[in-house]
Amino acid sequence: MMPMRNHTLTNLLLICIGALFSSSAYSDTLYSACYGCHGPAGVSEGKHMPSIAGLNFRYFYTTMQAFRKDRRNSTIMGRIAKGYRSSQLQRMALFFGSQPWTGRQGDVDLASAQRGKELHSEYCEKCHKQNGHFQDKETPPLAGQARGYLLYQMTDYRVAATAMPQPPLMQERLEKLSDEDLVALSEFYASELTKEGAPGATK
Ligand code: HEC
Ligand code: HEC
Repeated sequence: MMPMRNHTLTNLLLICIGALFSSSAYSDTLYSACYGCHGPAGVSEGKHMPSIAGLNFRYFYTTMQAFRKDRRNSTIMGRIAKGYRSSQLQRMALFFGSQPWTGRQGDVDLASAQRGKELHSEYCEKCHKQNGHFQDKETPPLAGQARGYLLYQMTDYRVAATAMPQPPLMQERLEKLSDEDLVALSEFYASELTKEGAPGATK
């Protein structure tokens, strides 16, 4: 009789410990620290903050490590990422990476977006496939990402080329483009034009 009861007790205890560690309150604090800037649940509501929900989890994790080790330029994220251990960054990557990507399309200058579409097919489609909807462990999605953020990143890649580790091909291509071209590209990624001939995003 006794061993049986002990067994049940142990099970109960294990369940309680499990519940404690997986309790949503415990995890929520880890993720909700990001919502103030990146929007509720990681879907950005502003033009200048990127959405982080639905990024490929390996891209997410590598990016957080790059911020943490100052291998990727940042205004804020370097400091934030240094506050976490690798295991926590991994949990965040799994949490945000298991959500669907929610791109946001908005009002754009159509002529500019059209020009952006041409630039995109010539210079960017090779890697940012499906009109920028594509993503994988190395490539972030561009279609539907906050447009002010994208514009800032492109400008930053171009001017701070040496400080921003990036595929050499991308640097080569961005160097050829004017400020106006970069605006056109960011208008394109925020437009419905990206949906033409582009099946849904992949991770
Ligand atoms: C105070 C505002 C702020 C907070 C809080 C914040 N971020 Fe950021 N995040 C930014 C900004 C700004 C950028 C653009 C890079 C930069 O300039 O630092 C960014 C960029 C990112 C990117 C890169 C997105 C991409 O498309 O490559 C990821 C991933 C990210 N943040 C994750 C997080 C996570 C996870 C948290 C919570 C632990 C968090 N951020 C909290 C402001 C913030
Ligand atoms: C050779 C492949 C390649 C080409 C060509 C390329 N990119 Fe990229 N792009 C990448 C990769 C890989 C990353 C992720 C870099 C990182 O991890 O820091 C990236 C990142 C970006 C980002 C940052 C997105 C974010 O969420 O932070 C922007 C914006 C971008 N690319 C725009 C462009 C544009 C516009 C073009 C064409 C003019 C272009 N890229 C051409 C591979 C490429």
